Amino acid sequence: MSSAEVLAPDLAPDSRIFVAGHRGLVGSAVVRALEAQGYRNLLLRTHAELDLTDQLAVRRFFDEHRPHAVIMAAARVGGIHANNSRPAEFIRDNLLIQDNVIDSAHRSGVGKFVFLGSSCIYPKLAPQPIKEDYLLTGPLEPTNEWYAIAKIAGVKMCQAFRREYGFKAISLMPTNLYGPGDNFDLENSHVLPALVRKIHEAKINGAAEVVVWGTGTPRREFLHVDDLADAVVYLLQKYDAEPIVNIGWGEDVTIRELAELIVSVIDYSGRLIFDTSKPDGTPRKLLDVERLHGLGWRPKIALRPGVEQTYRWFRENSSGARL
Ligand SMILES: NC(=O)c1ccc[n+]([C@@H]2O[C@H](COP(=O)([O-])OP(=O)(O)OC[C@H]3O[C@@H](n4cnc5c(N)ncnc54)[C@H](OP(=O)(O)O)[C@@H]3O)[C@@H](O)[C@H]2O)c1
Repeated sequence: MSSAEVLAPDLAPDSRIFVAGHRGLVGSAVVRALEAQGYRNLLLRTHAELDLTDQLAVRRFFDEHRPHAVIMAAARVGGIHANNSRPAEFIRDNLLIQDNVIDSAHRSGVGKFVFLGSSCIYPKLAPQPIKEDYLLTGPLEPTNEWYAIAKIAGVKMCQAFRREYGFKAISLMPTNLYGPGDNFDLENSHVLPALVRKIHEAKINGAAEVVVWGTGTPRREFLHVDDLADAVVYLLQKYDAEPIVNIGWGEDVTIRELAELIVSVIDYSGRLIFDTSKPDGTPRKLLDVERLHGLGWRPKIALRPGVEQTYRWFRENSSGARL
């Protein structure tokens, strides 16, 4: 199949597609996926070139460039510590970024808009696996409610603009992501990149053991970011409706299984110690992916090859990685 044949009927190879946040984990993977499918007119701006919290600058950008489609992968993102210590910045920046980009996209006639949320928008005690319908059925996890409330507002804004103005916005909710371009900072990163870095450093330093926080029993789901990007491009082309769509792998692993897999990939010969004095967090977090499967998309990159590829990237890019 030639690249032109896989393009959506209303998106041509030279359609202008704005990928907001193209230097982030998600945005950079979306750029790779779009380029691989033959889209050659991507609009990309760094944070320094276009601050998306600046309403006037965002309006000017949209008026000048008139994108056909927008992938919204820019957000102020961070771990529990950052969320907890800077709640005002998390709620303000994310509300401003979304409000500016969604409103300007609508005003300038964007034909398709993809909003990326997160699984943290669901209630803390949602039944597992988490269906899209569980949104707004219970209290949120208090540590990141600032971020989650902003993301929920983004989902609702997309739905409201669709209802009132016919704006073709869809909202996708990815599970925990990992892959090239991830944040490997020990303070602020997610569990998978943090374990990769800790275990890699233990191997280099000849340390006899690595301490993992908690009991190792909580279950988590992980999706390679290139799978997510493939889903984003697929749904950009094929999905146009109000309901939100979960994007996940569909199965979870325990933190112990994840840590053991990383030990094996890195070929570390020391021991794992589970520090049970540290909190475990919620026992399970798995997205229900029936809706996604019903739309005809499934992920391809299993956890082991995904971690192997991420570890190769980490070693080759340690100097440039967010450490
Ligand atoms: N990573 C995950 O596991 C995960 C899981 C589920 C959902 N998601 C969602 O995916 C989206 C992207 O996440 P990510 O992991 O790719 O985050 P990321 O790596 O931190 O990337 C976010 C990008 O947004 C940019 N940005 C932030 N504030 C901006 C501003 N005011 N103006 C312009 N650009 C700005 C950042 O640029 P600077 O770095 O220069 O500020 C960065 O390039 C988020 O909506 C997130 O909720 C991520």
